[in-house]
Amino acid sequence: MTKILTKHFDEPNLHELETYQKFGGYEGLKKALTLKPAEVTAEVKKSNLRGLGGAGFSTGMKWETVPPKDKLPGARYVVANADESEPGCFKDRVLLTKCPHSVLEGILIAAYAIGAEDAFIFIRGEYAVQHKILSDAIAEAERENLIGKNILGSGFSCHISLMRGAGAYICGLDTALLETMEGKKAWPRQPPPFPTVRGLMNQPTVVNNVETLAMLPHILKDGAEAFAKIGVAKTGGTGIFSISGDVENPGIYEFPMGTPLRKMLEAAGGIKGGRALKCVIPGGASTPPIAASEIDVPMDFESLRGLGTFLGAGGIMVLDETRNMLEVAHNIERFLAHESCGQCTPCREGSEWTTRILERIMSGQGVKEDVPNLQRVGENITGKVICALGDTVGMVVRGFMKKFPDDFSAKIPAKN
Ligand SMILES: Cc1cc2nc3c(=O)[nH]c(=O)nc-3n(C[C@H](O)[C@H](O)[C@H](O)COP(=O)(O)O)c2cc1C
Repeated sequence: MTKILTKHFDEPNLHELETYQKFGGYEGLKKALTLKPAEVTAEVKKSNLRGLGGAGFSTGMKWETVPPKDKLPGARYVVANADESEPGCFKDRVLLTKCPHSVLEGILIAAYAIGAEDAFIFIRGEYAVQHKILSDAIAEAERENLIGKNILGSGFSCHISLMRGAGAYICGLDTALLETMEGKKAWPRQPPPFPTVRGLMNQPTVVNNVETLAMLPHILKDGAEAFAKIGVAKTGGTGIFSISGDVENPGIYEFPMGTPLRKMLEAAGGIKGGRALKCVIPGGASTPPIAASEIDVPMDFESLRGLGTFLGAGGIMVLDETRNMLEVAHNIERFLAHESCGQCTPCREGSEWTTRILERIMSGQGVKEDVPNLQRVGENITGKVICALGDTVGMVVRGFMKKFPDDFSAKIPAKN
């Protein structure tokens, strides 16, 4: 199985600069510095790299939307999103622990491409260990003039600073993250303008997930074509998937994009205790579920859309035949209700209503109108809110009801 990011994860001290460089570390940056910034962007676009933080947007295309300096003067920023707040995802934590320099190198490549001299890593507050690892790695790279002024004599300068989050799911969303970085309440902004035009401090800002950024050195070093060839037509390369739940060997696994889900579950040792599979949540808690009969789906952005769900950030949660989907849906909706920032009424109120209706059904007090009401409430949230958290509130419950209707109806007394 082709591996890009995790290939050397078992090497001791890979988090240290010397070891990272032994395996070709910072060669991608050196290659980038021989090209013009626009050529770097073109190369990334050609690689078909798509964002691995959840939305799956083309990285090269995103960078292209940063306006040229003569049209919009002033600073540009790169923000590396290390918030990793999606339940079911833990791949960024492992990446940051094992190979922080790959993220730093990726940030420098992105900064060079868009003309940024300041970059930030926004890291979730709970990742104290990874914060320390990153700050040590930054200090090491600064000593070797890989970060700072006139990097390797190229004329390109870039500083990287760390910023810790205070713990809220919504802070992982790019525009909420920018608000919180500015010291404000993390209420998502209503685009347009998108952050690449008006981002941090109202200046053009590229926000990319840390795993997305860590792919860049490989694209520059080995070429866009080699990267594109690994994945599927519209998505190049690999992804690190966090596999958890009812499998024998939960953990992180790197696969080429488009690998069938069945193969991934086999790699994780299959379903725990030899039980039957019931459901897989493919991309983290905010992605609607797929049924056991659908696990031959190739894991890429387009194929999962075909099943009414998303690749998200690759947080695969596996649920066996003993699990009740009413309870699972309730667990996720309760989380979303707790994490709703409260800015949009449909999300703020709808997530609470949804949670309460599910609780009524679970307690055996459900009425036959509950299922159509959940459907109607969901339809009135998705698409009527500023951000994807609200969309999720409406989508998740409808997804579970569609694929596992019996788990809902079985709990509603017939007399009702
Ligand atoms: C509620 C919510 C939470 C999110 N949390 C994260 C996160 O923790 N990390 C992340 O990289 N992206 C997260 N995203 C996606 C970001 O908004 C953004 O699309 C991403 O950081 C862009 O990077 P990429 O293009 O490299 O994927 C979240 C989105 C939503 C709606």
